[in-house]
Amino acid sequence: MNTQIVDFINTNRDRYVEELKGWLAIPSISALPEHVGDVRRAAEWAASEMTRAGLGNVRLIDTPGNPVVYGEWLGAPGAPTILYYGHYDVQPVDPLDLWQSPPFEATVREGEIYARGASDDKGQVFMHFKAIEAHMKQTGRLPVNFKVILEGEEEVGSRNLDPFIRAHKDLLQADVVVISDTGMFDRNVPSLCYGLRGLSYFQIDLRGTSTDLHSGTYGGAVANPAFVLAQMLAQMKDRGGRIKIPGFYDDVRPLSEAEREEFKKLPFNEKQYRKAIGAPRLFGETGYSTMERASARPTFEVNGLLSGFTGEGAKTVLPAVAMAKVSMRLVPNQDPEKIGDLFEAYVKKITPKTVEVKVTRMHGGKPWMASLDNPYVQAAGRAIQTGFGQAPVFMREGGSIPVVATFQEVLGLPSVLFGVGLPDDRIHAPNEKLDLANFHNGIIASAVLYEEIAAVQR
Ligand code: BES
Ligand code: ZN
Repeated sequence: MNTQIVDFINTNRDRYVEELKGWLAIPSISALPEHVGDVRRAAEWAASEMTRAGLGNVRLIDTPGNPVVYGEWLGAPGAPTILYYGHYDVQPVDPLDLWQSPPFEATVREGEIYARGASDDKGQVFMHFKAIEAHMKQTGRLPVNFKVILEGEEEVGSRNLDPFIRAHKDLLQADVVVISDTGMFDRNVPSLCYGLRGLSYFQIDLRGTSTDLHSGTYGGAVANPAFVLAQMLAQMKDRGGRIKIPGFYDDVRPLSEAEREEFKKLPFNEKQYRKAIGAPRLFGETGYSTMERASARPTFEVNGLLSGFTGEGAKTVLPAVAMAKVSMRLVPNQDPEKIGDLFEAYVKKITPKTVEVKVTRMHGGKPWMASLDNPYVQAAGRAIQTGFGQAPVFMREGGSIPVVATFQEVLGLPSVLFGVGLPDDRIHAPNEKLDLANFHNGIIASAVLYEEIAAVQR
């Protein structure tokens, strides 16, 4: 590794944090229409930062939704091309009163930078901007060809990204995708992610009557949609946590004994895990370990429930409607469309005639798994070893990045998922943060990664 580059990164540590604060200050919340201008501003901020880092042909490419930011450096003929993907949009910040410092005024406390988007995903994208900059400033070039695409709709299901990729196949031609939007297994346990779950998300609406009713006058004579919804949800899983939708497990690739052995070797402490999330007891599918349940097995979850009177005090009412948001995390080889059909059929089957039901499909995404013997994955392992002074563990994430499957299917590209988030980064929650040591080591590991990828024999 070029020590000049590492020295440069070490010298500029504090500057990086100050610069990142500028991006974190922009509330690019893709879920809220009133922030559409901020989302665009965050895209423009990224574009000018990419230009400053030394990328060329930098531009915003419009989509029917938020723009894609594109930039490239193609000055290494014969060398591999990295397609770097990340997202500049962030999750909403509610409940705001639980934040210890304002979500869009990045604040450093005890070696962590607190802000919405610090870990997911601006901070991790910024790592690569700085790794590119370090190469450019010290050597005037990159060891590989480089293309960057950043999207602004990842947190709302990436609805315009698949069409974008299909429409720009030539522009996006590359050898390998690099993404930093995942986490490490634990503090001081650098990691490479080789699997992601897929997703299938729905809203269920039930209507019992045309308006709310007095629960004394009508109670007992009609079905209560809140109660019906609870009964329906109760039929989604058995007591052992197994999902009861017929056909749900048909395409699940079973965990191999070898992989289960690898899972057992991960430095996992069940008691600490339980305490960290404040659960009186853990619960999950019978026959699987917590780690397997949280990354390698499919799930059915209720994400939200709404019905009737929820204010202070008491109100004797029969709600007219009840609503649930539910989603399933999927594993290879489950297909979100097929699972969606099975789910809808099951909902229709278990809905009693006393209510009207409407099922709305929200977003989804396919699961993904890499082959560990891929030379680019191996190259990333060596880069992490250099950046963090320790070989990475190989892990599967329970979360989803649907575009990873698209890169494979549409562009035929493998992905390297090298993330530096921590399990307690509170992504999507109040007090999101990023560990600054991980951020810093991540910049070095990224800079090394480009060199390691350049050396891969094709
Ligand atoms: N960075 C996350 C994905 C992630 C989460 C990776 C946890 C590893 C661990 C990403 O921004 C995200 O939140 N994805 C969504 C995708 C969904 C909206 C299709 C998710 O997983 O819920
Ligand atoms: Zn996210």
